[in-house]
Formats: sequence, C-alpha cells, structure tokens
Amino acid sequence: MAVSKFTPAYKETHSLSSQFSSLTETSVFNNRICFSHPFPRPCNAARAFCSVSQNELQAPVAAQQNDTPKIKHECFGVFCVTYDLVAEEETKSWKKLINVAVSGAAGMISNHLLFKLASGEVFGPDQPIALKLLGSERSFEALEGVAMELEDSLYPLLREVSIGIDPYDVFKGVEWALLIGAKPRGPGMERAALLDVNGQIFAEQGKALNAVASRNVKVLVVGNPCNTNALICMKNAPNIPPKNFHALTRLDENRAKCQLALKAGVFYDKVSNVTIWGNHSTTQVPDFLNAKIGGVPAKEVIQDNHWLENEFTQKVQTRGGALIKKWGRSSAASTAVSIVDAIRSLVTPTPKGDWFSTGVYTTGNPYGIAEDIVFSMPCRSEGDGDYELVEDVIFDDYLRARIKKSEDELLAEKKCVAHLTGEGNAYCDLPGDTMLPGEM
Ligand code: LMR
Repeated sequence: MAVSKFTPAYKETHSLSSQFSSLTETSVFNNRICFSHPFPRPCNAARAFCSVSQNELQAPVAAQQNDTPKIKHECFGVFCVTYDLVAEEETKSWKKLINVAVSGAAGMISNHLLFKLASGEVFGPDQPIALKLLGSERSFEALEGVAMELEDSLYPLLREVSIGIDPYDVFKGVEWALLIGAKPRGPGMERAALLDVNGQIFAEQGKALNAVASRNVKVLVVGNPCNTNALICMKNAPNIPPKNFHALTRLDENRAKCQLALKAGVFYDKVSNVTIWGNHSTTQVPDFLNAKIGGVPAKEVIQDNHWLENEFTQKVQTRGGALIKKWGRSSAASTAVSIVDAIRSLVTPTPKGDWFSTGVYTTGNPYGIAEDIVFSMPCRSEGDGDYELVEDVIFDDYLRARIKKSEDELLAEKKCVAHLTGEGNAYCDLPGDTMLPGEM
C-alpha cells in the first residue's frame, strides 16, 4: 500500500509535471486533493485521517529547521501533509501519470465511475491517475463529499484529486475528458430546448478543451443528446483531432448483447460483433445481421427474424426509458460500466475478429453515411487510444433503411444546433416519431 511508508525527509510540492515525467527509484509522488474553487479551506482546519498512525508520521525536516509547517494551502485532510513515498518495486514499474477530467462529477454515474477509475480497473494496475472533477456551484458541497470518499478509499494509484467549477481550470492538461454532466429534461421540455441548453454547455466545454487540454485529449460525451453534444464539443475545439471525440453508445451495445444472449439461451460472453449504428436515441440500430453468437451469425442461431426486427430492436432502443420508469431516474451503474468498457476498448487491443461500437465522426466513413455528424459505428483499436472503422461488415435493405432513419434524425439535430457549431442560424424540425431514450 503506497501510503504505508514514508521516506525520512518530506519534500515540498514543486512542479508536479516534472515529478511525474519519469518514474525512477527517486521519483516523488504527492497524494493531494486541491479544493481550489470556490471555497478554499484553511489548512489548520484540516485533520489527517488515513491509515497511517500518528507515531509513524515524521515531522517535516524543513519545518524543524524554520518552524514553517510544510502544509499545502487549500488542501484537505490527509492530503495537506506533503510527503515522499518510498519507491517500492510496484511504483518503480508504474507508468507516467495520466490526467482524467470528469464532468458531472457529483452525479450518480460518476459516483460509480470515479471509484473504478481510481482503482486501476480502467487504465490498468500500473497506471497512476489524477482525477479532475468538474461540478457546478450548486453541486460543490456534493463534489467535496465525492473527494472525501475518494480520499478515504486510499487508492494507491490515485495521485491527485482536484475539484472545480470552471472548465478552463479543470481541463488543464487533461488526456481524457469524460463529459457526463448535462441538464436533465424538465417537464414538458421540447427536445429542441434540450438540445439548445445542453449544447451550450458542450460548446463551452469544447472551447475550454481547445484552450487548455492536451492536444491529443480523448473526449467521451455521455450527457444527452450525446451524439449531437459530441459534435458541438468537437466543432468548438478545432485544435483537437475530430477523431478524438466519442459519444457513448457502448451501453446500447451491452444491452443488445444481453438481449441476444437471453434469446439464444447462452451466457452473454458468447455474443460478439454487435454494432449499434447511429444515434443514442430510439432510432439507434442494434445490428443483428453482423452479430455473432458463439462465432455463428446471430440470425442462424436465433432463426426468428420477426423477433429480431421487432421485439429485440425495440427493447434495446427503449431500454433507457424502461429503466427510468423502474428507477425514477436514468441508469447510472450500467452507464458507468459501459464508460469503463468504452475506454478499455480504446486502451487495450480489440480481440481478433471482434469490434466495439462508439459514436464517432463520420467524415471519411466507408459505409456511405452522411458526413459531418457523430454516428455510432463499428471500430477496432490497437490499444493506443485510437481506433479504425471496421470495413468487413455486411448490409441488407432492412439495415440500410434503419441506418438512414437514424442518420436523418442526426442531420435534423445538427440543424437545430447550427448556432452552436458556427454554421449559421439554427432551424429545428425534428422528426416527430423519434425520441431520446429517456423521453418516453
Ligand atoms: C439511457 O440510455 O439509459 C439514458 O441515456 C437514458 C436517458 O435519457 O437519460
């Protein structure tokens, strides 16, 4: 456990980036939570409450010399004490720290996700991580609560936690941005209004990423309507490759796999090659034509086209709404799991012959789908954070017609947000028979 031993001398925090630029035997890590905004804590109000007992704590050397406590300002609890860790065998083999921003960090999805990120389950057991949590003024107390729980969890890989409400602060230098926070639809709210209100959030966050994030930041948009929010974010971040923006449709893929497994009477690990095409809405197309069960085409295993085209398709399309009816709120745990799956699919090589779904930029796609929208398609990755679209997929008239419907919906959504993408005046005429998953 990384916090169990201390070197004889404490060191003060200087440049974190230089500390993390290489991990050698003499590398120094600082665990810290910075409460930079809007309510800095006086350091003398902070108490240490970690697993290290008082008699294991050594007085900072510099403090002995000049009576100045080596305590960081605006810090919290145990993280106010800045200390060096003994370079254990484990830490010597760790990778360079990565910075991950999460918006909507005080929400239900994040409450599941953050602990998975901190545990190493997502980026690997040798990957130290800094979490940068973005919340709102209204949620700031809750954000502090999240940070306290992360603190109490003593994750060895969790090197920094900072919280804030300004994306220009929080996104500084981030290599991953998981954009979960969005306004939920209010009673009687039209989809056009939702597109506008959330679009403004994602336009602002796109600008902030463009200004301060790593030039190769990977952005995963979860807040609905996620495809068009991802497009807005991307258009406001011209210095970041468009390929780096994703809209989360992995939850839909997981739902489709579960339903196919149930029908075929197999465990869901037998189901592969499932694509979700299109929008994360009720026009999404769970592709059973290319799907496989135990390596055999799903259509051959299930042999019930009526079920596949109707019950199956509709069940996947409306699963989000069905869950809202049960829970009284949107899915949270399974969404967090699917975010983990989506990231892991980009940072680990795709199993041979398989693929995964993610909503990405269509320009240059090999399927004839309209350019310049964010559309869920089948991808493969070598595990370097990047991906390629899969070419060896087949289409039939049914699949083409369904894809077209989702494409039309996204083109209409795009026109609604033209004022947020720099493409002139918005004109909103959304197809009446399509809905977001939570809209039913
Ligand atoms: C889901 O698919 O569970 C959510 O996107 C539903 C929603 O609209 O919040």
